[in-house]
Amino acid sequence: MKKILIVGAISAIAEATARVWAQQGDYLFLVARDAQKLAVLAEDLRVRGAGRVETYVMDANDYAAHAPMLDAAEQALQGLDTVLIAHGVLPDQAACEQSVELTLRQIDTNALSVVGLLTLLANRFEQRKAGVIAVISSVAGDRGRASNYVYGSAKALVSEFASGLRQRLAASGVTVVTIKPGFVDTPMTASFKKGPLWAKPEKIAAIIAKACDSGGGAVYAPWFWFYIMAIIKLIPEFVFGKIKI
Ligand SMILES: NC(=O)c1ccc[n+]([C@@H]2O[C@H](COP(=O)([O-])OP(=O)(O)OC[C@H]3O[C@@H](n4cnc5c(N)ncnc54)[C@H](OP(=O)(O)O)[C@@H]3O)[C@@H](O)[C@H]2O)c1
Repeated sequence: MKKILIVGAISAIAEATARVWAQQGDYLFLVARDAQKLAVLAEDLRVRGAGRVETYVMDANDYAAHAPMLDAAEQALQGLDTVLIAHGVLPDQAACEQSVELTLRQIDTNALSVVGLLTLLANRFEQRKAGVIAVISSVAGDRGRASNYVYGSAKALVSEFASGLRQRLAASGVTVVTIKPGFVDTPMTASFKKGPLWAKPEKIAAIIAKACDSGGGAVYAPWFWFYIMAIIKLIPEFVFGKIKI
């Protein structure tokens, strides 16, 4: 039985992952902005077998709330083994291009709030010399593209920050997992036309749960995105600048 904190617990990917953990009888501390949705999810997870489910309302952009939330999680579950940071937004790229304020707000949510949480968690887990910190980044962070570079650059920051943490914390026995999903059919992508590269949240959830149990690293979800992004990263700048993807 593990003691697991999920930030952004209402996200479709996080919910699906919470269901995997609930079926294992794990203890869950769920954090999100919407108290009502949290209550519904908590009840569902109890029915599915979670050993214990607690909820906590927090906006991830409220930095002052991060440390009290972590204290509450550790107190409620009598410790923490695993944390999944899942919250995020997919910005309107065109609107961001016209607004500094909107661009910075999206980067705040997708990157800086995550960096704030990771910093606090790293120090707590490092002291205890144990624990798993998992964060959902994106393949979009592997190379900035015209169609979504506000989102992509925020995710790049998350990926690189997690990479550095992974190296720093390896000596302390703390595992850092970076999940890089490709296209996932969730409310975030509701308006997108779906195709063969798309995955369901349940598929990503299984990958996240497995990665948390098996030693960390950066994990493409599903695996074939590693090869797609390897090709995209290899395109020389003089070619990349002339194409739109
Ligand atoms: N779907 C994809 O194709 C895809 C691909 C790669 C990576 N990802 C990443 O996967 C993660 C989960 O996304 P998803 O696809 O499951 O989308 P989702 O169902 O739309 O979930 C996003 C969640 O983030 C929460 N959130 C946004 N801003 C927040 C804030 N300031 N404080 C607290 N919670 C906040 C939202 O809460 P509210 O309900 O309160 O708005 C929502 O529950 C995200 O990090 C996303 O960037 C998704």
